[in-house]
Amino acid sequence: MDFGKIKILIDTDPGYDDAAAIITAAFSSNIDILGLTTVFGNTSHDIVKKNTASMIDYFNLDIPYAFGEKEPLNKNNIATEVSEKDVFNLPEHESREDVKGAVEFLKEKLEEERGKVTLVTLGPLTNISKLLKQYPKCKTMIDRIVMMGGALNTGNVTSAAEFNIYCDPEAAKEVFNSGVEIVMAGLDVTRETMLYGYDLEKISGFGEKQTKLVEIIKACSSKYGLTPEKGIPVHDVCTIIYLLEPEVFESEKFSVDVETKGEITRGMTLADRRPFSTAVKNTTVLTKININKFMRCFFEIMAKY
Ligand code: BDR
Ligand code: CA
Repeated sequence: MDFGKIKILIDTDPGYDDAAAIITAAFSSNIDILGLTTVFGNTSHDIVKKNTASMIDYFNLDIPYAFGEKEPLNKNNIATEVSEKDVFNLPEHESREDVKGAVEFLKEKLEEERGKVTLVTLGPLTNISKLLKQYPKCKTMIDRIVMMGGALNTGNVTSAAEFNIYCDPEAAKEVFNSGVEIVMAGLDVTRETMLYGYDLEKISGFGEKQTKLVEIIKACSSKYGLTPEKGIPVHDVCTIIYLLEPEVFESEKFSVDVETKGEITRGMTLADRRPFSTAVKNTTVLTKININKFMRCFFEIMAKY
């Protein structure tokens, strides 16, 4: 263990861009991934579990992991399309029984650490809301939550809501109101992280593992109609680049809450932008990205491994 590294726990729903983020963090010499937990999201939780286990195997990632929630807090809110999308097509990992579950796993990992740990969230916030509710003392052990989720401006699932928040708005609301400091890497910056054909070729050129990552990115994103010609966004990677080089982004602090009742705004992250507002500014929102610096940092990590 290296005490100079940034210690993180990742909650994720792989997902091609989740894979890209996890591998970026694992390849970086400045990050120590203490563990990984899964949540439904990009696809059914069964496929998320398979993708996670086989990715950890294939990329030789020495990271402990546990499986989490397969549906949102409000069981009627089945926002995700349960489909065969995002199947990584890696060699099958021998299936294993989940003995602990994500909430217990996260609690234990936080307790094991003496210093505070950063929680990186790349999917719906179901596991995290359960953790903070069941074990409120864990809040004091979390440095901050760096999340891919939400949008100040336009959503993607609906015009108001971003996917990760829309999948479980009740959970997201609890997390935003938990008192834990939040950094929100939302669509305002993440939708600019387009990888084009020449970027993917460059990454493949770095080696066998990088080639496999590119195969995953291409295969899974094509199921959403994304192509290297149009550009493939790697949303979740923003969280990791922010940890490593925060100056890649501009940010502003706001009081952010989540709409759970709106007829057309359910899942919207609403920032209080009134200049005279006295509401507690609970969230650092990433508002702008320097895409050249982002790509330089991302490629440097990919090249070094
Ligand atoms: C988010 O939704 C998922 O599809 C991606 O993995 C990312 O976390 C983008 O809205
Ligand atoms: Ca994700």
